[in-house]
Amino acid sequence: MRNRLSPSVLAADFGALREDLRTAEEAGAESFHFDIMDGHFVPNISYGASIVSALRKDSRAFFDVHLMVENPDFYFPIFKKAGADRICFHVEATPHLDRSLNAIKELDMEAGLAVNPATSLSTVEELLPVCSYILLMSVNPGFGGQKFIPYSLDKLRRLREMAEERDLELEIGVDGGIGLENIASVLDAGANFIIAGSSVFSEKDKITEKVEAFNRFIK
Ligand code: DX5
Ligand code: ZN
Repeated sequence: MRNRLSPSVLAADFGALREDLRTAEEAGAESFHFDIMDGHFVPNISYGASIVSALRKDSRAFFDVHLMVENPDFYFPIFKKAGADRICFHVEATPHLDRSLNAIKELDMEAGLAVNPATSLSTVEELLPVCSYILLMSVNPGFGGQKFIPYSLDKLRRLREMAEERDLELEIGVDGGIGLENIASVLDAGANFIIAGSSVFSEKDKITEKVEAFNRFIK
Protein backbone atom coordinates (compact mmCIF):
# COMPACT_ATOMS: atom_id res chain seq x y z
CA MET A 1 0.00 0.00 0.00
CA ARG A 2 1.40 3.37 -1.09
CA ASN A 3 2.02 6.11 1.48
CA ARG A 4 0.50 9.53 0.79
CA LEU A 5 0.53 12.95 2.42
CA SER A 6 -2.79 14.81 2.65
CA PRO A 7 -2.42 18.35 4.00
CA SER A 8 -5.52 19.47 5.91
CA VAL A 9 -7.08 22.56 4.35
CA LEU A 10 -8.47 23.64 7.73
CA ALA A 11 -5.04 25.00 8.63
CA ALA A 12 -4.46 26.88 5.36
CA ASP A 13 -5.02 30.63 5.01
CA PHE A 14 -8.78 30.97 4.38
CA GLY A 15 -8.14 34.24 2.58
CA ALA A 16 -5.75 32.58 0.15
CA LEU A 17 -6.78 28.94 -0.08
CA ARG A 18 -6.12 28.54 -3.80
CA GLU A 19 -2.61 29.91 -3.44
CA ASP A 20 -1.72 27.78 -0.38
CA LEU A 21 -3.03 24.61 -1.99
CA ARG A 22 -1.20 25.32 -5.23
CA THR A 23 2.04 25.76 -3.31
CA ALA A 24 1.51 22.46 -1.47
CA GLU A 25 0.57 20.59 -4.64
CA GLU A 26 3.58 21.90 -6.56
CA ALA A 27 5.79 20.79 -3.66
CA GLY A 28 4.46 17.23 -3.94
CA ALA A 29 1.20 16.93 -1.99
CA GLU A 30 -0.86 14.30 -3.84
CA SER A 31 -4.04 14.77 -1.82
CA PHE A 32 -5.91 17.35 0.24
CA HIS A 33 -7.99 16.64 3.32
CA PHE A 34 -11.23 18.62 3.78
CA ASP A 35 -12.66 18.83 7.31
CA ILE A 36 -16.40 19.41 7.21
CA MET A 37 -17.77 20.36 10.65
CA ASP A 38 -21.42 21.13 11.38
CA GLY A 39 -21.35 22.57 14.90
CA HIS A 40 -23.39 19.57 16.14
CA PHE A 41 -21.33 16.42 15.79
CA VAL A 42 -18.31 18.52 16.74
CA PRO A 43 -18.32 21.87 18.54
CA ASN A 44 -17.02 23.87 15.60
CA ILE A 45 -18.15 24.99 12.14
CA SER A 46 -15.61 24.90 9.30
CA TYR A 47 -16.74 25.31 5.68
CA GLY A 48 -18.92 23.51 3.18
CA ALA A 49 -19.10 22.04 -0.30
CA SER A 50 -18.78 25.38 -2.11
CA ILE A 51 -15.19 25.71 -0.90
CA VAL A 52 -14.36 22.18 -2.06
CA SER A 53 -15.92 22.89 -5.42
CA ALA A 54 -14.03 26.18 -5.88
CA LEU A 55 -10.70 24.48 -5.11
CA ARG A 56 -11.46 21.50 -7.35
CA LYS A 57 -11.19 23.73 -10.41
CA ASP A 58 -7.53 24.38 -9.78
CA SER A 59 -6.26 21.05 -8.44
CA ARG A 60 -5.57 17.56 -9.72
CA ALA A 61 -4.96 16.15 -6.24
CA PHE A 62 -7.02 13.40 -4.60
CA PHE A 63 -9.80 15.15 -2.63
CA ASP A 64 -10.39 13.40 0.69
CA VAL A 65 -13.51 14.63 2.49
CA HIS A 66 -13.80 14.02 6.24
CA LEU A 67 -17.40 14.56 7.35
CA MET A 68 -17.71 15.48 11.02
CA VAL A 69 -21.45 15.97 10.77
CA GLU A 70 -24.69 14.48 11.96
CA ASN A 71 -26.82 12.79 9.29
CA PRO A 72 -23.83 12.34 6.94
CA ASP A 73 -25.81 10.49 4.23
CA PHE A 74 -27.55 13.71 3.28
CA TYR A 75 -24.20 15.21 2.22
CA PHE A 76 -22.80 12.39 0.07
CA PRO A 77 -24.29 13.60 -3.25
CA ILE A 78 -23.48 17.21 -2.37
CA PHE A 79 -19.78 16.48 -1.91
CA LYS A 80 -19.75 14.20 -4.95
CA LYS A 81 -20.93 17.15 -6.99
CA ALA A 82 -18.28 19.36 -5.39
CA GLY A 83 -15.54 17.02 -6.61
CA ALA A 84 -14.78 14.63 -3.73
CA ASP A 85 -12.82 11.49 -4.61
CA ARG A 86 -13.44 9.90 -1.23
CA ILE A 87 -15.81 10.51 1.65
CA CYS A 88 -15.35 9.24 5.15
CA PHE A 89 -17.89 9.75 7.92
CA HIS A 90 -17.89 8.98 11.62
CA VAL A 91 -19.09 5.64 13.01
CA GLU A 92 -20.40 7.62 15.99
CA ALA A 93 -22.62 9.82 13.80
CA THR A 94 -25.07 7.40 12.20
CA PRO A 95 -26.49 3.88 12.81
CA HIS A 96 -26.55 2.09 9.43
CA LEU A 97 -22.89 2.07 8.52
CA ASP A 98 -23.10 -0.64 5.88
CA ARG A 99 -25.91 1.15 4.06
CA SER A 100 -24.08 4.48 4.22
CA LEU A 101 -20.81 3.04 2.89
CA ASN A 102 -22.68 1.50 -0.02
CA ALA A 103 -24.42 4.80 -0.74
CA ILE A 104 -21.02 6.45 -1.18
CA LYS A 105 -19.76 3.66 -3.44
CA GLU A 106 -22.90 3.89 -5.57
CA LEU A 107 -21.99 7.52 -6.20
CA ASP A 108 -18.66 6.30 -7.56
CA MET A 109 -16.47 7.53 -4.74
CA GLU A 110 -14.18 5.69 -2.33
CA ALA A 111 -15.83 5.11 1.03
CA GLY A 112 -14.29 5.24 4.48
CA LEU A 113 -15.11 5.25 8.18
CA ALA A 114 -13.66 7.63 10.76
CA VAL A 115 -13.20 6.54 14.36
CA ASN A 116 -12.85 8.84 17.37
CA PRO A 117 -9.98 8.24 19.82
CA ALA A 118 -12.24 6.69 22.48
CA THR A 119 -14.19 4.48 20.04
CA SER A 120 -13.21 0.82 19.88
CA LEU A 121 -11.93 -0.81 16.69
CA SER A 122 -14.66 -3.41 17.14
CA THR A 123 -17.09 -0.84 15.62
CA VAL A 124 -15.39 -1.21 12.23
CA GLU A 125 -14.22 -4.82 12.33
CA GLU A 126 -17.10 -6.36 10.36
CA LEU A 127 -16.95 -3.58 7.79
CA LEU A 128 -13.30 -3.88 6.78
CA PRO A 129 -14.20 -5.79 3.60
CA VAL A 130 -16.83 -3.15 2.71
CA CYS A 131 -14.67 -0.03 2.85
CA SER A 132 -11.27 0.76 1.45
CA TYR A 133 -10.28 3.25 4.14
CA ILE A 134 -10.35 3.72 7.90
CA LEU A 135 -9.43 7.05 9.45
CA LEU A 136 -8.19 6.86 13.02
CA MET A 137 -8.52 10.16 14.85
CA SER A 138 -5.45 10.87 16.93
CA VAL A 139 -7.10 13.95 18.53
CA ASN A 140 -10.71 14.59 19.56
CA PRO A 141 -12.19 16.01 16.35
CA GLY A 142 -13.29 19.61 15.99
CA PHE A 143 -10.10 21.66 15.95
CA GLY A 144 -6.71 21.81 14.29
CA GLY A 145 -3.48 22.25 16.17
CA GLN A 146 -4.13 19.78 19.01
CA LYS A 147 -1.68 17.35 20.59
CA PHE A 148 -1.35 13.78 19.28
CA ILE A 149 -2.93 11.26 21.68
CA PRO A 150 -0.22 8.64 22.36
CA TYR A 151 -2.51 5.58 22.64
CA SER A 152 -3.39 6.10 18.95
CA LEU A 153 -0.15 4.30 18.02
CA ASP A 154 -1.26 1.03 19.59
CA LYS A 155 -4.66 1.39 17.94
CA LEU A 156 -3.01 1.90 14.53
CA ARG A 157 -0.93 -1.20 15.04
CA ARG A 158 -3.96 -3.31 15.99
CA LEU A 159 -5.95 -2.03 12.99
CA ARG A 160 -3.10 -2.88 10.59
CA GLU A 161 -2.98 -6.37 12.10
CA MET A 162 -6.75 -6.80 11.71
CA ALA A 163 -6.44 -5.89 8.02
CA GLU A 164 -3.47 -8.18 7.45
CA GLU A 165 -5.17 -11.14 9.18
CA ARG A 166 -7.99 -10.73 6.66
CA ASP A 167 -5.65 -10.22 3.71
CA LEU A 168 -7.08 -6.77 3.03
CA GLU A 169 -5.24 -3.89 1.39
CA LEU A 170 -6.75 -1.33 3.72
CA GLU A 171 -5.77 2.32 3.49
CA ILE A 172 -5.28 3.57 7.05
CA GLY A 173 -5.37 7.30 7.74
CA VAL A 174 -4.26 9.08 10.86
CA ASP A 175 -5.56 12.55 11.65
CA GLY A 176 -4.55 15.06 14.30
CA GLY A 177 -1.33 16.26 15.87
CA ILE A 178 0.99 14.83 13.20
CA GLY A 179 4.30 16.63 12.67
CA LEU A 180 7.82 15.89 11.53
CA GLU A 181 8.64 14.72 15.07
CA ASN A 182 6.10 11.85 15.12
CA ILE A 183 5.55 11.00 11.44
CA ALA A 184 8.04 8.12 11.60
CA SER A 185 6.20 6.50 14.50
CA VAL A 186 2.76 6.61 12.83
CA LEU A 187 4.17 5.16 9.60
CA ASP A 188 5.88 2.44 11.59
CA ALA A 189 2.59 1.65 13.39
CA GLY A 190 0.86 1.02 10.04
CA ALA A 191 -0.67 4.30 8.87
CA ASN A 192 -0.21 5.01 5.16
CA PHE A 193 -2.40 8.08 4.63
CA ILE A 194 -0.94 10.96 6.60
CA ILE A 195 -3.06 14.01 7.36
CA ALA A 196 -1.23 17.08 8.56
CA GLY A 197 -2.76 20.53 9.02
CA SER A 198 -0.90 23.04 11.14
CA SER A 199 2.46 21.37 10.63
CA VAL A 200 2.16 22.01 6.87
CA PHE A 201 0.33 25.34 6.66
CA SER A 202 1.04 27.34 9.84
CA GLU A 203 4.02 29.23 8.40
CA LYS A 204 3.08 30.55 4.99
CA ASP A 205 6.61 30.88 3.70
CA LYS A 206 7.49 27.31 4.67
CA ILE A 207 4.73 25.28 2.99
CA THR A 208 7.03 23.95 0.26
CA GLU A 209 9.74 23.07 2.73
CA LYS A 210 7.28 21.26 5.03
CA VAL A 211 5.66 19.20 2.27
CA GLU A 212 9.08 18.15 1.01
CA ALA A 213 10.22 17.26 4.53
CA PHE A 214 7.10 15.11 5.13
CA ASN A 215 7.54 13.41 1.79
CA ARG A 216 11.10 12.42 2.64
CA PHE A 217 9.62 10.22 5.38
CA ILE A 218 6.55 9.14 3.47
CA LYS A 219 8.00 8.17 0.09
C1 DX5 B 1 -9.56 17.66 13.43
C2 DX5 B 1 -9.45 17.50 11.95
C3 DX5 B 1 -8.05 17.41 11.44
C4 DX5 B 1 -7.23 18.65 11.63
C5 DX5 B 1 -5.80 18.24 11.78
O1 DX5 B 1 -10.91 17.61 13.80
O2 DX5 B 1 -10.13 16.32 11.55
O3 DX5 B 1 -8.03 17.01 10.08
O4 DX5 B 1 -7.35 19.56 10.57
O5 DX5 B 1 -5.06 19.37 12.13
P1 DX5 B 1 -3.62 19.28 12.81
O6 DX5 B 1 -2.72 18.55 11.86
O7 DX5 B 1 -3.26 20.70 13.00
O8 DX5 B 1 -3.79 18.52 14.11
ZN1 ZN C 1 -9.84 15.59 9.48
